[in-house]
Amino acid sequence: MIERTLAIIKPDAVSRHLTGEIIKRYEHQGFKILAIKRIKLTKSQAEGFYYVHKQRPFFDSLASFMAGGPMVVLVLEGEDVIKRHRDLMGATNPKEAVKGTLRQEFGTDIEHNVIHGSDSRESAQFEIGYLFSGLELQP
Ligand code: RTP
Ligand code: MG
Repeated sequence: MIERTLAIIKPDAVSRHLTGEIIKRYEHQGFKILAIKRIKLTKSQAEGFYYVHKQRPFFDSLASFMAGGPMVVLVLEGEDVIKRHRDLMGATNPKEAVKGTLRQEFGTDIEHNVIHGSDSRESAQFEIGYLFSGLELQP
């Protein structure tokens, strides 16, 4: 089944000049880059994006981190792309991530973990709609 997922090259990765390296990995995986842009969120926009975590102890710190600098947001399309992208990302905590995953290779700690990926069709739909307009999603 062809799916879409929302990927974010997080501010830690953009500031460390890892954008090109991560995009290269996506192209090697055969993911279609349907849309891509560099943006900077306000803290309240970052809180809205991660609203599912609003009761979690790390929520305030996460929103500050995500609003702390520019990020690169992408819509990826492909067969089973939601799970395939999560597999490429690795575990949330880079110290627990499998060798060869983006977080294992480039992550610093559980918060500064270089990449975001939608975890379900429902979250992909919300997250793509939050950051992209229909006009930006041309097939
Ligand atoms: P993401 O949503 O960014 O793709 O990451 P994920 O599914 O692997 O992890 P999730 O539980 O959804 O957490 C979202 C982001 O919050 C930060 N975090 N900090 N300090 C902490 O204990 C903690 N736990 C999570 C990370 O940036 C994580 O990716
Ligand atoms: Mg998540």
